[in-house]
This record gives sequence, structure tokens and C-alpha cells, in this order.
Amino acid sequence: MIQVSMGLIGVGTMGGALALNIAENGTDVALWNLDLLDIDALIASAGPLAQKLKKSDSIKAMVQAMPQPRAIILLVPAGTPVDQTIDNLIPLLSSGDTIIDGGNSDFRDTVARCRRVEAAGLAYLGIGISGGAEGARHGPSIMVGGTEASYAIVEPVLQAIAANFEGDPCVARLGPDGAGHFVKTVHNGIEYAEMQMLAEVYGLLRDGEGRSGSEIAPVFRRWSRGPLESYLVDITAEVLAAKDPETGEEMVDMIVDQAGQKGTGRWTVIEAIRMGQSASIIEAAVGARVLSSHKLTRQIAAPLLVPAGIDPIAKVSEQDMESALVTGRVLGYAQGFRILEAAAVEFEWDLDYARIAEVWRAGCIIRSAMLDDIAMAFRTDLPRGRLILADHFIKVLTQNVGGLRRVVAAAVLQGLPVPALSSALSWFDTIRQARGTTDLIQAQRDFFGAHSFKRIDMDGDHHGPWMRKDG
Ligand code: 6PG
Repeated sequence: MIQVSMGLIGVGTMGGALALNIAENGTDVALWNLDLLDIDALIASAGPLAQKLKKSDSIKAMVQAMPQPRAIILLVPAGTPVDQTIDNLIPLLSSGDTIIDGGNSDFRDTVARCRRVEAAGLAYLGIGISGGAEGARHGPSIMVGGTEASYAIVEPVLQAIAANFEGDPCVARLGPDGAGHFVKTVHNGIEYAEMQMLAEVYGLLRDGEGRSGSEIAPVFRRWSRGPLESYLVDITAEVLAAKDPETGEEMVDMIVDQAGQKGTGRWTVIEAIRMGQSASIIEAAVGARVLSSHKLTRQIAAPLLVPAGIDPIAKVSEQDMESALVTGRVLGYAQGFRILEAAAVEFEWDLDYARIAEVWRAGCIIRSAMLDDIAMAFRTDLPRGRLILADHFIKVLTQNVGGLRRVVAAAVLQGLPVPALSSALSWFDTIRQARGTTDLIQAQRDFFGAHSFKRIDMDGDHHGPWMRKDG
């Protein structure tokens, strides 16, 4: 096996944590960062691992100090900084060396960069790393895009640092060039959907039931031990229980309700729509973050747009809320996998959906017990071709969708927004409707634009009687 020497550029929170992880697994890491003081701080905090962290004063010095073949991971902000770093590295590296972008890059940029770097005689990998700083330090989930040969060189290092699910390292090469970053983007889309649905249920408990964060925390804690077992439900319980050290108030109550976003959720929706897929739950989650930033408008609107038709007695049980979240989770994952399936066709990637679910079982933000069932379904049980039509998920949906229906109904009657949960329900009710209502849309299209329609009883393209009016 070829022994590769590892370098890392960008010693921020993620980069520093990943460097420590690599060092802890026995590999020296050459480090460079725009601000060299960050490297000093990392080394000073590294304890016995410090001896494996090698600071360089320049990119050139870093490359020269590394034996060949070299693999250099970039953990710099997505966009121009990645291109600039690649430009700086290309003239310094030699054949056999690999540049690895470990950030949340747009997969289209990764495809272009891959071509550019390979044209310069070097190897390129775009890897999605999930799990936040904690994951990067102790075991992230890693989604790799690039050639098999480029992956083979760094595979042992990536396997050593990745999270582990019952002995299976959560890392895989999922396809060429942009495939890893695409899968990571969809992972984040699912993350957005899941976080939004949890926030909506928190809203029902807070605004519908008048409960405080610390009263809600035990509910999420209980849920995290059942079918909703997952990292995001766990941390939701934890943040809801936390007190603000400054004021002693509940921490969530002190946080401004405007959510940030760096782009991956939006990219998921854009790519889904571009490929003719519905990612309605993810879209609702992105939209909810967008509306959250319109704080001033919401503050002005609150006393003015008083909702009519409110039924404050429309209450819903915790059992129904749990079922709603289970259903929403199944449908959120299902939308994510549909986008991946469409991408596999569009970009001619041979994506292994079971493996993707397996790689997400540990280390990443959307890890949950359900991913094991999803992996199993993809491996054994997709006779009808769709995740939601696997026997296991038909059962889960049938048992839980009533809860989602009651939660959405109660939220609507209380005037509480549940955009992601209601999108999930509408998606479910649409996909299970053998005869939908787009017959009318086809008629309207034909009426105003002579677009024609198919008939249920004859082949060919047809027009309605409205076409005959003026001969
Ligand atoms: C992860 C996270 C991580 C980060 C995203 C989301 O998988 O570890 O998804 O990549 O939290 O950048 O960021 P935004 O919510 O800011 O878009």
C-alpha cells in the first residue's frame, strides 16, 4: 500500500478538529493557514498530538516538507477561497499528489475543479464531511467523489478517521468528481427538513400549549429513545434544557429567531427542481429560514394580521406529534433519495443508495436509527422501486400518518405555522392519489394555449371542445 503524506489547509473549527483526528489516528499532518497564529493555538491545545502536527510558514514550505505522494485537504470557505488555494497548489505539486476539498462546495464547482486539477496532472477528490466540529474531531461521515484510483490512496486515512457504525467505517466513494459533494448537499437538505419539522413541533408545544423549553426538553428526550432515535432529536432535548449563563433564563428564549443558511439547503431545492423532482419538505424548510429573516415585517404584522377562524381548543397529543415527526422523517429521507436517484440518471452516476444510507448511519448530522432500516430496504426490499413503497415503510407510514394529519389540522386551527409538516402531508396525500386533479390543469393549458392533452380512452394528442369555438 502506498503511504501518503497528509496536509491540511484551513485550520478553522472544522479543519483544526480534523487535523487532530488524523493525528490521533497515527498520521502526521502538515498544516498551513492564512493566519499562522491559529496553527500555534491548535498545536498548543493538542497535548501529546502536538508532535504529529507540523506547522509551515507558507504553502510552498508545507508542500516541500511533505514526502510524495501527498494528499492535501482544503477546509477553507466554499467558493473563491477554494479556487485560490487550488491555483496556489497546482504549480507546487507533482504527479501522484491529490488535492481534496473537504468543504461544503457546490458540486458543480467540484466537477469543474476536478477537470482543472486533473488536466494539470494531479488527482482531485471532493469530499462531503458531516458531523460538525465534534464529528470532525472524533469521527465524521465522509462522502467521497473522485476517481477510484485517487480514493484508493487516501482510503486508509479516511477509514481511520471516519465514524464507525458497528465496525463499518462511515466513508465511501460514491461516484466521480462532484458525486460526494452532491450527496453531502442532499444530506444537508434533509438536515434542513428535519430541523424545521422539529422546530415546528417545538412551536406547537411552546405557543400552542404554553410550555417552556425546559418543560419541552423531556418530551424530546423521551422521543429520542423511541422510533425517532437520532442525533438531531437528542440535541434538541439538550438545547431546550439549557440555561443562559448570562441571565439564568432558558437559553432558547434568549436567541433571536432568525436562522442563517450557507446555501446547501437552497442548492438541494434548486437541483431537485432542475431535475423535475419535488423536494417540498426541504423547500418549506429553506423558505421558513428565509421568512425567519424578515423579522421586522413579522413584528409589524403580528398585531395587524390577526388570524380569523382560530380554534384554540384544537389540541394534539404528544403521541401524535411523535407520529408526525416519524412520518415527516420518512418522507424527508424519501424526497432526498428521490433527488439522488434523479441525479444518478442526470449525471450518469452509479450511486449506491444503500451504501449512502449506511454512510449516514453514524457521524453525520442526520444520523438516526431509521437510516439502518433505509439501508436494509435499499439492499433487500424495493420491489416497487420507491422507498415509501418498501413493505417496512408502508407499515411505518400507515401507522403514523394519522398523527401527522391531526398535528397539521390542529396547527392550522391554532394559526401556528407548520410549513414543513404540512408539505410532508400534502406530498404524501398527492403521491398516494391514483387519480389526481391535474386533468383540470391539462384542460386549462389546452384552453388558453392549445397545449393538447392525453385522453383516458384513446391514444394520441387531443383538444377539448373549447378549441372549436372560432373554427
Ligand atoms: C454537517 C452540517 C454542516 C453545516 C452546514 C449547514 O453535515 O456537518 O451540515 O456541514 O452545519 O454548513 O449549514 P447552514 O445551516 O448554515 O446552511
